[in-house]
Amino acid sequence: MAKNIDWKNLGFGYIESDYRFVSNYKDGAWDEGQLITDANIVLNECAGVFQYAQTVFEGLKAYYTKDGHVVCFRPDLNGQRLEDSARRLEMPVYPADKFVEAVKRVVEANIDSVPPYGTGASLYVRPYMMGTNPVIGVKPADEYQFRVFVTPVGPYFKGGAKPISIKISDFDRAAPHGTGHIKAGLNYAMSLHAIQEAHREGFAENMYLDPATRTKVEETGGANFIFVSSDGHTLITPKSDSILPSITRRSLMYVAEHYLGMKVAHREVLLSEVKDFAEVGLCGTAAVISPVGRIHTNDGDILVPSGMDDMGPVLTKLRQTLLDIQHGELTAPEGWVVTIK
Ligand code: PLP
Ligand code: COI
Repeated sequence: MAKNIDWKNLGFGYIESDYRFVSNYKDGAWDEGQLITDANIVLNECAGVFQYAQTVFEGLKAYYTKDGHVVCFRPDLNGQRLEDSARRLEMPVYPADKFVEAVKRVVEANIDSVPPYGTGASLYVRPYMMGTNPVIGVKPADEYQFRVFVTPVGPYFKGGAKPISIKISDFDRAAPHGTGHIKAGLNYAMSLHAIQEAHREGFAENMYLDPATRTKVEETGGANFIFVSSDGHTLITPKSDSILPSITRRSLMYVAEHYLGMKVAHREVLLSEVKDFAEVGLCGTAAVISPVGRIHTNDGDILVPSGMDDMGPVLTKLRQTLLDIQHGELTAPEGWVVTIK
């Protein structure tokens, strides 16, 4: 029985669910892990996560398909990215295959929290890892915890698929060299001030530029950019070592090419060429595809030709094709849609 939740009006927030998975790493090995009901964590005041921010995370979604299955989308890629994130922060790797098993177990245990098909909501899955034992000298912890919790969510941006206004961030997203492509808490901590500034000024998000030259487009606080060329035939996505390798973006590049017959260009994107694109969007697990209608810069606004009223035709088609693949209404490439129940 689905829980008594107003699924259609859910925002992107935290609602405590019944079960979470916990596994501990001690003396060089992970234990088997178990499902527990306690949502709180008690840790020593000197735990590595508190002192030196040793924490990494992932995000993916589980949802109902039309024929009544509960599935998730490419969880193996989230597992691999968590491995990369852990390595970069000198944490032990939680193996991707065990990661996928843990995700499945938690979703199955919380099946009542999976939003019904057609509500537009989904179950957001948040796997993460942290250093748990006391560390006072600057060094990695010796003990870690891996956890997976879930929360039902609606659209990331208020208004769902309505175009948003964003601004060029006044701040660099100061991810230390070589950490931009991993999902580490420290990268997000460094973006919070910029995000709040943008919100205070009435913008939904930031466009971060490359810190060295401030001429190239990077990403936003929680999504990669996608652009549609003026003739509508090419999907362009920024290439940079300091942005997160979005699983949604990599999937959309494949979908654009193989399902929609578009050309795809993964390359550096200059801020100066953004005014020439027909459509601009943000893509990610939380954002899915959210259209951008206006980009505020210190030299005036870039008004995207597709406007502020509706998503443009190419992104609409791309978004619908991705959603149809995810929900089993179009045949997915091998291994993309993983059945949980
Ligand atoms: N960029 C950032 C900074 C993110 O936090 C996310 C969300 O995970 C993305 C991009 C999109 O990545 P994905 O499509 O793998 O969710
Ligand atoms: C995700 O899309 O999973 C993210 O981690 C982005 C975050 C803004 C919720």
